[in-house]
Amino acid sequence: MSATLIDGKARAAALRAEVAIGVAAFVAAHGRAPGLTVVLVGDDAASAVYVGAKGKACREVGIISGEHRLPADAAQADLLALVAQLNADDAVDGILVQLPLPRHIDADKVIAAIDAAKDVDGFTPINAGKLAIGQPALVPCTPSGCMRLIRDALGDISGAQALVIGRSSIVGKPMAALLTAASATVTIAHSRTRDLAGHVARADIVVAAVGVPGMVKGEWIKPGACVIDVGINRIALADGKTRLVGDVDFDGALARAGWITPVPGGVGPMTIACLLANTLEAARARATT
Ligand code: GUN
Repeated sequence: MSATLIDGKARAAALRAEVAIGVAAFVAAHGRAPGLTVVLVGDDAASAVYVGAKGKACREVGIISGEHRLPADAAQADLLALVAQLNADDAVDGILVQLPLPRHIDADKVIAAIDAAKDVDGFTPINAGKLAIGQPALVPCTPSGCMRLIRDALGDISGAQALVIGRSSIVGKPMAALLTAASATVTIAHSRTRDLAGHVARADIVVAAVGVPGMVKGEWIKPGACVIDVGINRIALADGKTRLVGDVDFDGALARAGWITPVPGGVGPMTIACLLANTLEAARARATT
């Protein structure tokens, strides 16, 4: 048996096309396009690549893309003032402060300052809290993308055993909340978990989000399971080149899983597509309140 590959690239393209239609309808109804503003502090190369990709994706679906770049030594007060300015700007529906922030800035304080109605990352305590207690919220993009892929593959997951590996606020915790809301039986594993292999072996759904290349071994996977690999790890090869790999031993898992996301081309493309969907959702909600 060989797993069905989950084509995140194609699923993301379909979601972007849906968002583009929604954006056109929003423009017709409200006479303006939704706006997403990204704030980047410092010159982290990977962050700059993400921010560039976000801008391009916005333009392709008709969302107005704004960008503010602050120097790496920017004062926290200046960043908070910028967030306040964006909160007050009616043309801005979504605010995304790119993480990680430089160490001298209190990221929790900056995130908490974002208007929850514009928090398209779903990282503010208000949106995280709403998700945790099952209220409608803006949901973090990566887990939201994973959930769409899981639903496409499996349909109804009520009663399924789901294992989330990783307990970050960005992926693990919101992922567990979404799976719980969909009535799966959810386990969260992390660096202190004993017998990870045993947990994986019982799981109908595995979401791996730890950032350790190949940590989940193929032989642990329950036959037929749905495997969602959030990891994006660059590893060095013997010939001096590098390659992107996930947190799951892909070749081993391919032989046992029912469905599996490749890296790259699985979860990655879904994240930005979900960010666009969240921006449209925020714009619609703001336009009707
Ligand atoms: N850095 C890496 N991924 C993300 C993300 O989804 N949102 C933000 N704000 N920063 C990130």
